[in-house]
Amino acid sequence: MKSLIAGNWKMNGLMASLAEIERLGGLLKGGASAEVLICPPATLIAAMAPAARAIGAEVGGQDCHPKASGAHTGDIAAEMLKDAGASYVIVGHSERRADHGESSAVVKAKAEAARRAGLTPIVCVGETEAERRAGKQEAVVGEQLAGSLPDGAGPLVIAYEPVWAIGTGLTPTIEDIAAMHRFIRQKAGAGVRILYGGSVKPSNAAEILAVEDVNGALVGGASLKADDFYAIISAA
Ligand code: PGA
Repeated sequence: MKSLIAGNWKMNGLMASLAEIERLGGLLKGGASAEVLICPPATLIAAMAPAARAIGAEVGGQDCHPKASGAHTGDIAAEMLKDAGASYVIVGHSERRADHGESSAVVKAKAEAARRAGLTPIVCVGETEAERRAGKQEAVVGEQLAGSLPDGAGPLVIAYEPVWAIGTGLTPTIEDIAAMHRFIRQKAGAGVRILYGGSVKPSNAAEILAVEDVNGALVGGASLKADDFYAIISAA
């Protein structure tokens, strides 16, 4: 299975940031053994898509609404992301689950909307620090998977992102990453790419990406600088 290295820019990036794509292209020089994806803020998708395509990368959204259109001020439909040039969309990121109160049922509806629009959903799951300390990580992630994954067959990526590892510099042990990815693999089946996310950086990427059932990474902070993102892509 070809690895997927996905950058999640979150609420970062202006038009000037498109220069990072050109810098990344210069580093990649037309070749990467991994599939490369960048999920910029929605405002940049249309402008970034041709630039990304030119360097062999793809673009994705960070969220979508379950409906295709309608009276939903401020929201963006999966069909609109597709129209702007996206091929993936992240759904159920822990920041959306926390900041916008998104339940697994809502995340599932968004994942199904992504497929309806012709996008591959990247469904995020992961436990909090308290849940891991209580030994409940598999129960929590199992429940999130049961509630959030789209029904039926179709493209799907799952991202395991422990909430306590996001933006903190902390990561689970390699053994803990391996155990959780094995657990998710049992639930998701053989054909689904399972990404690890949470403080992935150039210094730990090779070790994490070598773990069985880790099929790539979802990278936040370290995806904003072309040099760091390139180092992670090279580690895959
Ligand atoms: P981080 O974020 O790499 O900055 O920890 C990962 C994510 O939230 O997708």
